Amino acid sequence: MTPAPCVAITGAGGSLGQALLRRWHSRGARLIALSSGSRPLQMVDDHGKPIPLQQVQWQVGAEAELAGLLAEVDVLVLNHGVNVYGDRSAAAVTRSLEVNALSSWRLLEQFAAVVSARPADPADDPTRPRAEVWLNSSEAEIQPAFSPLYELSKRLLGQLISLRALDLAGPRLRIRRLVLGPFRSPLNPFGVMSAGFVAGQVMAQARLGCDLIIVTPNPLTYILMPAATLSRWLYFRLLSGANGGADHGAGPAAADPARRHRSEGRS
Ligand SMILES: NC(=O)c1ccc[n+]([C@@H]2O[C@H](COP(=O)([O-])OP(=O)(O)OC[C@H]3O[C@@H](n4cnc5c(N)ncnc54)[C@H](OP(=O)(O)O)[C@@H]3O)[C@@H](O)[C@H]2O)c1
Repeated sequence: MTPAPCVAITGAGGSLGQALLRRWHSRGARLIALSSGSRPLQMVDDHGKPIPLQQVQWQVGAEAELAGLLAEVDVLVLNHGVNVYGDRSAAAVTRSLEVNALSSWRLLEQFAAVVSARPADPADDPTRPRAEVWLNSSEAEIQPAFSPLYELSKRLLGQLISLRALDLAGPRLRIRRLVLGPFRSPLNPFGVMSAGFVAGQVMAQARLGCDLIIVTPNPLTYILMPAATLSRWLYFRLLSGANGGADHGAGPAAADPARRHRSEGRS
C-alpha cells in the first residue's frame, strides 16, 4: 500500500489552498499549511470534524528558513499568488515577480536539493512516496488575464519551470504544473468556477498521472498549453545546458530523452 504522503501547501489561507488541503485530508495525507499570515487556520471536514494540520508561517524572501521543514515533505504544492490588477508601479513589479515567480522558483530549487539526497528508486525507501512539486501557474501563462503584471509574472514562472525541469525532474522528483482558468477567490472575485471544483479536478488529473494539469472552461488552453510546453522544452533543451550550455541536457533526467519528453512535455 502507498504510504500517506506529507503534503505542504503554500497560500494555505487562500481559497484554492484550503480546497486542496481538504482534498488531501480526505486522502489521508499529513498536512503542513504554509501561510504568510499569522491568523490560525481552523478547518473542518464535511462532517464538521477538525482537520489536523501543522501551520507554519513563512515569508517571500525567507524561503531558506523552510529547508529543515522540506525534509519532511513528500508533495510540495506551490500555490501562493497575488494579483495587483492595473498597478504598474515599481513596487507592484517587485511584489508580482517576487510572490508569483521568484519565491516559487527558489522553493522549487530548495526542495529539489533536499530531495536529491533521497534514494533514486522509491522502492529503496518504502516508507515514503516519490517526491513531487506542484507549481500553480495559471492560464495567464498563455492567455490574457486583464492584469499585465499578473500575466508577466506567471509567464516568467511558467518559463522557469520549463527551463529548470530539464535538470530537476527525474526519478527523485516529479514536477507537475497546474494551469487553471478563472475561479472565485479574493484574487479573482469574478471567477466562473469554484475553488472546490478546481481542487477536485486537479486531484483527479494528478491521480490519472498527468504532469500538465489543466482546469478551465476555455478550450483553447487545452491546445495552446501543451504546444507551448513542448516548444519550450525543445527550445530550452537545444539552447541551454546544465553547465552553461557546454553540457546539453545534462542532469538527472537527461539520460533518457523519452522519459524527459513525457515529463516535461506535459509539465
Ligand atoms: N482565482 C483564479 O482565477 C486563479 C486562476 C489561475 C490561477 N490562480 C492561482 O491560484 C493560486 C491560488 O489563488 P486563489 O485564487 O486561491 O487566491 P487567494 O484566495 O487570494 O489565495 C492566494 C494566497 O496566496 C498567499 N499570498 C498572497 N500574498 C502573499 C505573499 N506576499 N507572500 C506569500 N503568500 C502570499 C495568501 O495565502 P496565505 O495568507 O496563507 O499566505 C493568499 O491567501 C494563485 O497562485 C493564483 O495565481 C488563480
